Amino acid sequence: MLLGLGAVGAFLAVDFGAVAYANKWIGPQAELTRQTFIDGFRRVYGLHPGFRRNHAKGVAVTGRFDSSGNGSELSRAAVFGPGHSSVTGRFSLSGGDPFMADTAAAARGLGLAFAFPDGTQWRTAMLNLPVFPDNSPQGFYDRLLASKTVPATGKPDPAAMSAFLTAHPETAAAMAVIKQHAPTRGFADSTFSSLTTFYLVNDAGRHTPVRWSFVPLQAALPAPPGSDNALFDALIRQIRGVPLQWRLMLTVGEPGDPVLDATLPWPSDRRTIDAGTLTLTGVKTERRGNARDINFDPLVLPDGIEPSDDPLLSARSAVYAASYRARTGEPKFPSAVQVDEVAQ
Ligand code: HEM
Repeated sequence: MLLGLGAVGAFLAVDFGAVAYANKWIGPQAELTRQTFIDGFRRVYGLHPGFRRNHAKGVAVTGRFDSSGNGSELSRAAVFGPGHSSVTGRFSLSGGDPFMADTAAAARGLGLAFAFPDGTQWRTAMLNLPVFPDNSPQGFYDRLLASKTVPATGKPDPAAMSAFLTAHPETAAAMAVIKQHAPTRGFADSTFSSLTTFYLVNDAGRHTPVRWSFVPLQAALPAPPGSDNALFDALIRQIRGVPLQWRLMLTVGEPGDPVLDATLPWPSDRRTIDAGTLTLTGVKTERRGNARDINFDPLVLPDGIEPSDDPLLSARSAVYAASYRARTGEPKFPSAVQVDEVAQ
């Protein structure tokens, strides 16, 4: 089944990338193409064949999602109806270096692929942030280049970063929001959010803007000191001992809430719906047939969930497809996180 998911992923990735291309969010007549991004990741992080161009360091997980049924008020998608679905996922750290040392400063990612018996799928790639730093593909690209490490200092060039923030006040404002939410101890106690807005569509055809979050039901084990894989090691130890759980909370937007700009938070008093529980029980080193070979394209959506016009979504779909195609055609090297080497 996992191999099947990978194969379907390849097909859908190409398909959706083509749609984005046709829409010219990025394309030959626009300044940015998917190849510009792929080249940009290479300029900033170097070439690491076989690995994702971003979120290169990661570990594969498996589990299930038990729906509460509450989400079916807003969406006819199978994931929100009664029952459960199998889930394949991947925890990751942002950045294109697959051998980076774990740091609290790197955004933590969670990609999830839900598979239903009728063959439909839902994929989502989320972060442990309250908002996204950019509201446009150009902003993401400019920030990527500004964050390139200067070899002499091991840090980004402060002048380049300052010029970037002056040109992108939306990122400066988003960074201020992000600073108010210090990262938690580890992966297990992180809230992972869609940040971009989607629409849920119910049987009556009503479209409701939502953002979703997976909210942890456990504390995290402390990260072992002195290990370059401290955050991953703690996650692996914890999941081996006990299933890890997150509650899927749907936050319902109201008229006037921003739906096209992921740098802007929604008011904190918005209605939330507890749509069910994610339970992760398995953790494996990235390898053929597991989450390594899935493209967590945010536009792989089942009937009942639709994208908003946030320009990040179509750009991501096109760039993830290009990253997926590049990495699946390259030789493979062992991932930094080797699950079997983590002590009990
Ligand atoms: C224009 C904006 C963005 C660009 C260009 C971009 C680029 C990328 C690329 C190239 C990958 C690797 C894809 C692969 O090889 O499978 C990736 C992975 C990822 N991205 Fe983005 N990204 C963007 C925005 C976002 C946003 C808004 C989020 C979350 C809210 C996000 C979360 C993630 C996560 C969690 C992964 C890892 C998924 C996995 O494990 O495969 N990204 N991104």
